[in-house]
Amino acid sequence: MDILPESNDQYGTKQYWNQRYAREDDDASFDWFKSYSEIADILRSLIPEKRSRILMLGCGNSKLSEDMYDDGYHNIVNTDYSSIIIEKMKQRHGDARPQMEWHEMDVRDLEFDDSSFDVAIDKGTMDAMMTAKGDIWNPPQQVVDDCTREVREVIRTLRKEMGVFIYLTFGQPHFRKRYLTVPGTKLEIRELGEAFHYYLYILRT
Ligand SMILES: C[S@@+](CC[C@H](N)C(=O)[O-])C[C@H]1O[C@@H](n2cnc3c(N)ncnc32)[C@H](O)[C@@H]1O
Repeated sequence: MDILPESNDQYGTKQYWNQRYAREDDDASFDWFKSYSEIADILRSLIPEKRSRILMLGCGNSKLSEDMYDDGYHNIVNTDYSSIIIEKMKQRHGDARPQMEWHEMDVRDLEFDDSSFDVAIDKGTMDAMMTAKGDIWNPPQQVVDDCTREVREVIRTLRKEMGVFIYLTFGQPHFRKRYLTVPGTKLEIRELGEAFHYYLYILRT
């Protein structure tokens, strides 16, 4: 089954993701960039409290949430704008991991209260919104607006002065810092990997 888009910019459309998830087997899973086992030590040190309320942004059919749940993080709220994958993930995990929530939701318009999460995690979701055709050095206004809206929504929903936004991407600081440099927050950047580098952006409220 061919699940690759004809062009990269399709990664930025809900239609592509819905079609992809509809065609995949119900029990299919795919983790972008890194699996939990590869970043577990880092996440455990960034999220020392297992009861933390964690917002998963664009969960897809990644195993990250289930692996974190099985490691003791039961308070995970998963979101994705693909209704297809949210329904499939609810069916898959409802009985085995009953405390985990699943919501069809756009990261640019989160339907959660202010200051209601301790942690937010984005692994590859903002990247999907950055695939529009154009000059990567000077992204289209739509991309700038989408990413700015996501970060603004994440900061709004994180608890003040103790919230952590963890964003894992292949995107180098030059292309990501502009969205993650927000007055009143502190940004830390870590590099992961040896040959091919991934970046972990840690934004603290
Ligand atoms: C590259 S995949 C990453 C999936 C998962 N986080 C992982 O680590 O494997 C991007 C996911 O983000 C979702 N997505 C893209 N844009 C979104 C948006 N604006 N709001 C909510 N979900 C979005 C897609 O449906 C897809 O499931």
